[in-house]
Amino acid sequence: MLYFNPRGIGCNLCHGDTGKGKFITSYKHKAKNDKELKTITIASSDITNIDFKQFSKSINITKSKSIMPKYFLTTEEIESIYIFLKTQRSK
Ligand code: HEC
Repeated sequence: MLYFNPRGIGCNLCHGDTGKGKFITSYKHKAKNDKELKTITIASSDITNIDFKQFSKSINITKSKSIMPKYFLTTEEIESIYIFLKTQRSK
């Protein structure tokens, strides 16, 4: 399935096997004065419940500061991932 094996890193690794979002990582951010240690947590949001337009835009046009890699998928490929995620919604 494309969701697990697109041309690039699998979506499931960051979005979870059902697309409901996943805790990715957290790390301590070291500030200049060493006293302000901040914990930064990165997690992805639920992608089973967004509309197709927003969905396809997020995949092929990625903001430069995004954690998510850029993909070059065809409309058909994006559609098939989208349909797959809809079936995961109720799980
Ligand atoms: C390296 C981790 C990573 C991978 C791999 C990844 N994503 Fe993401 N994705 C994210 C993060 C983090 C966000 C949250 C917004 C941001 O940082 O741009 C996101 C946001 C999104 C959004 C927008 C959600 C919204 O609410 O607007 C969609 C849709 C999406 N991803 C779909 C996918 C699909 C489909 C794939 C596989 C082809 C994929 N992602 C692979 C990390 C990832």
